[in-house]
Amino acid sequence: MNYIGSKLSLLDFLDRSIEEVAGKDKSLIFCDLFAGTGAVGTHFKKKGHKVIANDLQYYSYVLNRHFVGNHKPLKFEGLIVLVSGLKSADIAERKNIVCEYLQNLDGVKGFVYQNYCPNDSGDEQRLYFTAENGKKCDAIREKIEEWRNKKLINDDEYFYLLATLLEAIDKSANTASVYGAFLKSIKKSAGKPMALSPLPLYLNDNEHEIYNEDVNDVIKKISPDIIYLDPPYNTRQYSANYHILETIAKNDRPKIKGKTGLRDWSGQKSVYCSRAKVKQAFADLIKNAKARYIFLSYNNEGLMSLNDIKEIMSSRGKYGYFTQDYSRFKADNNRDYSANKTTEYLHYVVVNN
Ligand SMILES: C[S@@+](CC[C@H](N)C(=O)[O-])C[C@H]1O[C@@H](n2cnc3c(N)ncnc32)[C@H](O)[C@@H]1O
Repeated sequence: MNYIGSKLSLLDFLDRSIEEVAGKDKSLIFCDLFAGTGAVGTHFKKKGHKVIANDLQYYSYVLNRHFVGNHKPLKFEGLIVLVSGLKSADIAERKNIVCEYLQNLDGVKGFVYQNYCPNDSGDEQRLYFTAENGKKCDAIREKIEEWRNKKLINDDEYFYLLATLLEAIDKSANTASVYGAFLKSIKKSAGKPMALSPLPLYLNDNEHEIYNEDVNDVIKKISPDIIYLDPPYNTRQYSANYHILETIAKNDRPKIKGKTGLRDWSGQKSVYCSRAKVKQAFADLIKNAKARYIFLSYNNEGLMSLNDIKEIMSSRGKYGYFTQDYSRFKADNNRDYSANKTTEYLHYVVVNN
C-alpha cells in the first residue's frame, strides 16, 4: 500500500542498523508499535523473530493481523461446501480460489457505492471510486462479514480476506495519494476493474501479538527485547487521511459529512501529530518502555527536534543514530525530485538496566 511514512523502501537500512546495535539473535522479541502497513514487523517476522505489532487505526490492525499475525496455513474448511474446487485444492491454493469466488460476486449498492462513488442517489457525488468498483467492494465486504457471522470462516481467514480487500480497493482509489480529497475525473488506475489479488501468507512457528490501541497504553503491557517506533513526523492525522479504509475495515456505516464524506475521527486523534503535545507523549513512552533496545525512525523535519529526541532517549542509556538520504512521500503529480530529499534518522538507545 502506498502509505504516508511507509518504511518499505528503507527496510535494508533499518535491518542493517538494527542488527549493528542489537545483533542477529532471532530469539529476541521485536516490537513495531506504530505499525501502519506492517512492512517493518513483517520483515522481522520473516527473519524468524516473534513480533508484537500495534497501531491506532483499525485498517492497520487488519493489515498487521494478517501480515504479521497469520502464521499458519489457511484451510477455509467452512467454505468447502459453498466454494467449488476448494475441497480438492492444495491448502496453499485455497486462498486464491476463495478470492476468485469473491471477485466474481455481483456488485451490491452498499455504503461505499452510496457515499463514495458516482451513483443514482441524486445526493452530492464523491468520485473516490468508479461505481463498478464501489459496488464490487460492497459485495465482497458484506460477504466476508456474512461468512464470519455464520462461522464459516475463522478469525485468521477473516482478517486475511479483509486485508486483501483493503489492499485491492486502495489500488482502485481515485486520489492523488490519500483520502483527504478525490480527483475531479477518474484516473487510469482507478478506472480499471478492482482486482482482488490474493495477498501472500508468511508461515512460521511464532505466535505473534497484534494490538489496536494508543501506543502509550500498549507500552505498559509489553516487555519485548527490541522496540521499534515509527510515529507520524508531522501534523497530518492518519485517521483523517485514511478515513475510507477505516470505514471499510470497520464496516460500521458511520455518519459522514462534508465534501470528502469524513467520518468522526475525534477519538483517534494522535498526540504525535500535535506540536504542543508530542514531546511529553514521547518522553512518557520512552520512560515506560521495558526493552533492551529502543529504535526511533524520524526525519530532520519532524515536529520534535533532533535535540529533543537525543535528550529524551539518552535518559535511558547509551544513545546513537544512523542516517540515510530519503525522497519524501510523493503524490501522483511529479514534483521536483531534488526538492523532495530529506534525511531519515534511525535513533537508538541501548537501555541501562
Ligand atoms: C509513519 S506511520 C508508520 C508506517 C509504518 N512503519 C509502515 O512502514 O507502514 C505512523 C503510524 O502511527 C500510527 N499512530 C499515530 N499515532 C498513534 C498512537 N498514538 N498510537 C498508535 N499508533 C499511532 C498511525 O496510524 C500510522 O499508521
